[in-house]
Amino acid sequence: PDGAKRFALTLQSGGRAELIPGKVTEGAWGINGAYLGPTVRAHRGDKVRMAVTNRLAETSTLHWHGMRLPARMDGGPHQMIDPGATWIAEWTIDQPAMTSWFHPHLHEETAMHVYRGLAGLFLIDDPDGPPLPSEYGVDDIPLIVQDKNFDRDGTIDTSGVESGTFGLLGDTILINGTYDPFHEVTTRLVRFRLLNASNTRVYRIGFADNRTFDVIGTDAGPLERPAPVDRVKISPGERIEVVVRFTAGETVVMNSLGEDSRSANDIEEDDFTLLKIVAGSRLDDSDPLPATLGGTPVPAVPAGATVRRFELSGSEINNKDMDMTRIDEVVSAGAVEIWEIDNTTYAHNFHIHEVVFRILEINGTPPPAYQAGPKDTVFLPKEATARLLVRFGAFVDPLTPYMYHCHLLRHEDKGMMGQFVVV
Ligand code: C2O
Ligand code: CU
Ligand code: CU
Repeated sequence: PDGAKRFALTLQSGGRAELIPGKVTEGAWGINGAYLGPTVRAHRGDKVRMAVTNRLAETSTLHWHGMRLPARMDGGPHQMIDPGATWIAEWTIDQPAMTSWFHPHLHEETAMHVYRGLAGLFLIDDPDGPPLPSEYGVDDIPLIVQDKNFDRDGTIDTSGVESGTFGLLGDTILINGTYDPFHEVTTRLVRFRLLNASNTRVYRIGFADNRTFDVIGTDAGPLERPAPVDRVKISPGERIEVVVRFTAGETVVMNSLGEDSRSANDIEEDDFTLLKIVAGSRLDDSDPLPATLGGTPVPAVPAGATVRRFELSGSEINNKDMDMTRIDEVVSAGAVEIWEIDNTTYAHNFHIHEVVFRILEINGTPPPAYQAGPKDTVFLPKEATARLLVRFGAFVDPLTPYMYHCHLLRHEDKGMMGQFVVV
């Protein structure tokens, strides 16, 4: 009656998943199903009403990663949903077209809930955007990339999720929950929406034939113009939209090639096959990729912008562990600030709720063109520094904090997280 677009999402366990063909997967959880969740889709300008029901035996939450919304609707560790309860989140979507996602975000236990399969895509469409491949499942394909370990009988192996420096690194890749995936394309241009929904692993994605493709969007919206690449690096929580050209009849392998072990941590090192793609013997024509995508250049840094520094060391931020009762930073509504992230140790990344930021510099130099778009998560290789231009939203709430944290979920759970309020 109020014109809101309604969605019902149920967190559940005990569904019959078969993640490894022919084997019943014990231990998988899902949203409205046995593993992962449905793709939620809304337009810019829509009012959405999400009813999240928890049918797990334990408390959880559901966080809208990348969404700009009031802190009470954010689904972080302060919006717990008890077993059997339903939590309602409502807001109006007012941000550009993007590929976003949702996942639990409970204090100290996010890694296990996400690893078991609680995650799904949230796509925002902008009717005023440029013409891009957009037929879902045909020339607009989401790819949720996750690494897992399985026992011999197909049960999800959760050992390691909450141990070691980085938590779990899996030896088996699932794409959209599918083992050894295959996709047939029927058009000359295909858009892939990549989401790294792994707990820890960083991928360097491209193709076995090293073909060039175009990045069209980063976490939180479109680039200004297509950025040609042959590899893109994507760390947990990040999204990258790409457009790839195909020729009739060809077979193409999308893969991930690790970084050299001398320069990288073990979360960046391994090689994987991600997806086998076969192009049909006749391909439908696609509109050419537009020269401009609707994104804007990185804005100038405002004179006198507040600068905040965050030192990442071990699993602490500024030598502090997460404390649910401590507000670490107080920010003015609508502020544009510089956040400097200084990683003094092994690899991390850094995600800020509600905001959109631009990477000004990584290790003192501007990022590659494909990372110059709107972002909410940035990867910090070991001992790297990042300078971010952060634009805060207008949702004032001095009592309810938003989070910033490392999105390697083992680190997040260990306390590598802080809280800010917008006043
Ligand atoms: Cu993807 Cu604080 O989360
Ligand atoms: Cu988030
Ligand atoms: Cu980390």
